[in-house]
Amino acid sequence: MLTIALPKGRIAEDTLKIFEKIFEKPFVFDDRKLILHTDDFRFLLVRSQDVPAYVLHQAADVGVVGLDVLEEQESNLTRLLDLGVGRCRVCIGVPKNKKLDFSLPEIKIATKMENITRKYFSSKAIPVNIIKLYGSIELAPLVGLADAIVDLVETGSTMKQNGIEIVETISHSSAHLVCNKNSFITKKEEILALYTHIKEIIY
Ligand code: PRP
Repeated sequence: MLTIALPKGRIAEDTLKIFEKIFEKPFVFDDRKLILHTDDFRFLLVRSQDVPAYVLHQAADVGVVGLDVLEEQESNLTRLLDLGVGRCRVCIGVPKNKKLDFSLPEIKIATKMENITRKYFSSKAIPVNIIKLYGSIELAPLVGLADAIVDLVETGSTMKQNGIEIVETISHSSAHLVCNKNSFITKKEEILALYTHIKEIIY
């Protein structure tokens, strides 16, 4: 049996749809339940940022998680496949009426993604003061907490509704199938069978 960690929300729904196509039967979490048992699989519903921990510690053999989360956490997991769902970008946003002044001694950036942000600005040799937030990032530059933000953009409507303009795209992200390095040895056949099935469905 394989245990598969899925991030709550749209990626979980899209991933379960892929499984429904493969096995031609419904895969649905009952109301508020966090574990879904089927014949050959056990699905776990976890927060997106927690998927790498479940897979790294082998509480799950396999996981589905955004590339942005993988890059932010730099977890030691095997990347198997880009599922092509949950596409989004990591962008720098600045309030429309303001310009980002790169000559400032330090730019204040609010973000959930500290590592991605630090790496990006240090590659450009731009000094930044990173303010770590856990959500509603778009609010920060509107009330003087930060000069700019680094955040995920999917449809772009959250930034637009809050008068924030995208000034740079740092990276692109989509949901990836990852697995635990030990599981990849001990359950290699099951994992490769799953990989092949999914690949047939999505390509
Ligand atoms: C993410 C992200 C943006 C929003 C982008 O937030 O941080 O706020 O989605 O989506 P859009 O481009 O389609 O508008 P999330 O919904 O995860 O909530 P959070 O602010 O609580 O992190």
